[in-house]
Amino acid sequence: MEMVNLTIDGIHTRVPKNWTVMDAAKAIGIDIPALCYLKGVNEIGACRICVVEVEKARTLQASCVLPVAEGMVVHTESPSVVEARREILRLLLDNHPNDCLTCDKAGECKLQEYAYRYDVKFREHDGWRRERHIDTTNPYIYRDDSKCILCGRCVSICAQINERSVLSFGDRGYRTHIIADNERTLADSTCVSCGRCLSVCPVGALLDNRAIGKYRSWELEKEEVICNRCEYGCEFELLKREGKIVGVRAKSPSNGRPLCLKGRLTLDLLYNETASTPLLKKDGEYVEVAWAEALELEDLLQKLGVAGK
Ligand code: SF4
Ligand code: SF4
Ligand code: SF4
Ligand code: FES
Repeated sequence: MEMVNLTIDGIHTRVPKNWTVMDAAKAIGIDIPALCYLKGVNEIGACRICVVEVEKARTLQASCVLPVAEGMVVHTESPSVVEARREILRLLLDNHPNDCLTCDKAGECKLQEYAYRYDVKFREHDGWRRERHIDTTNPYIYRDDSKCILCGRCVSICAQINERSVLSFGDRGYRTHIIADNERTLADSTCVSCGRCLSVCPVGALLDNRAIGKYRSWELEKEEVICNRCEYGCEFELLKREGKIVGVRAKSPSNGRPLCLKGRLTLDLLYNETASTPLLKKDGEYVEVAWAEALELEDLLQKLGVAGK
């Protein structure tokens, strides 16, 4: 494999030619902030929070989509980089509810993390803010449109499901927002509740509806488990509080591999001591069903003579 030499923040490194500057920085322990970028899923260079200064380049460059080059000299936290990131964060917060005190994403929110890292605060202003539109129609997914930063991760990951693409960008300009099918609620849309979108949302715009108000992120211990329903082996986290499992959630997909509904339900059944009866959408309504039906195990259980359990 062809390799290139470059210098990042004074550290010389040698990496494969097909890497990005963000990949190269990560490999030597330098954390460049990212909001829209998700390897293998969303590589659209939209949010610009990851900009870096490259010597001899005329403008700051988005490191998540910038290929490494021989002899490149990169600065990831120079004064101009820091000021650019602060301005991006100011603009995001200007269009965001000041709700970190009670938000269920607090402690795990990338916007909150970077605002703290770059010391950017909410500003009072009389201008337009995103309207609060909360969709709780899907029992598994809580959507708060006012917290969306339009990173596009959910759109990209939903589009990876064959013949699905429930989510997309609707409207234009400052009114741009994420829509489900043609401005439907999630319950009315063709969403299959796989949970991929909420596993990648960097802020509190998409959350597990069942977990709202149940725990704060800093109270949790996490244990990684692998789904063995198929050969992909998607990664999940058991969420424990004081030793008791309070939830099971999918980790953000690595290498572009997302999870499926069957995997999510199986892990819930296996580990979640408080797992509630699964809900499936039938004729447009969510109805309680047996685990065997939710997991499409009915044929197998019939053959084993244990159907109905
Ligand atoms: S989404 Fe993040 S920044 Fe927004 S209110 Fe919640 S914790 Fe705060
Ligand atoms: S839960 Fe799955 S199908 Fe529904 S919107 Fe999210 S990614 Fe798309
Ligand atoms: S809902 Fe979340 S993942 Fe989707 S665009 Fe908004 S912030 Fe990004
Ligand atoms: S993380 Fe690079 S542009 Fe968004």
